[in-house]
Amino acid sequence: MESLIEKVLISEAEIHKRLDSMALEILTGFDGRPITVVAVLKGALVLVADLFRRLPVKLDIEFVTAQSYYGGTETTGQVEVIGGLPDVKGKSILLVDDILDTGLTLAALKAQLMDAGADSVATCVLLSKIKERSADVEADYCGFEIGDEFVVGYGLDYTGHYRNLPYIGILKEFGV
Ligand code: IMP
Ligand code: MG
Repeated sequence: MESLIEKVLISEAEIHKRLDSMALEILTGFDGRPITVVAVLKGALVLVADLFRRLPVKLDIEFVTAQSYYGGTETTGQVEVIGGLPDVKGKSILLVDDILDTGLTLAALKAQLMDAGADSVATCVLLSKIKERSADVEADYCGFEIGDEFVVGYGLDYTGHYRNLPYIGILKEFGV
């Protein structure tokens, strides 16, 4: 698997160091309020596991499954929430996704959580691509800004694979 990686963009150590400081930013932002983490599966799985252990406050965690990619490297523009939303009424939400690309996923989920009665929704991503977004959304907490290229690892996949790489990397070629 690793032989298919062209280069490591962000190392495991760099990710973990940044998570320490992101956690402090989040704790400051929530200012003692209990946090309901809503993680977007499957991509945010690794991030949320490492991040929420750095948040020593009253916290619960929920998951949503959103699908915006259908196996390729381009979004279809459609965001589908599978299996419904958790009960978020009156809660202060930290919505966690792996990456902000077109913004469609985060914008759609944030709107749906607010419609479902959340008190507030703060957004958090490990990566944000520097590009024009299709939806008007930015992350409140962002680990790293990267160029507009396709990355894998640390939860991010290409055709379902590479999520288990401990770093963020760029593939040598697609179609593998
Ligand atoms: P958006 O709705 O276009 O912002 O895309 C968000 C979702 O697309 C993320 O949750 C990822 O699952 C996926 N995605 C976007 N860019 C990449 C990438 O470079 N690698 C892997 N998945 C990506
Ligand atoms: Mg995703």
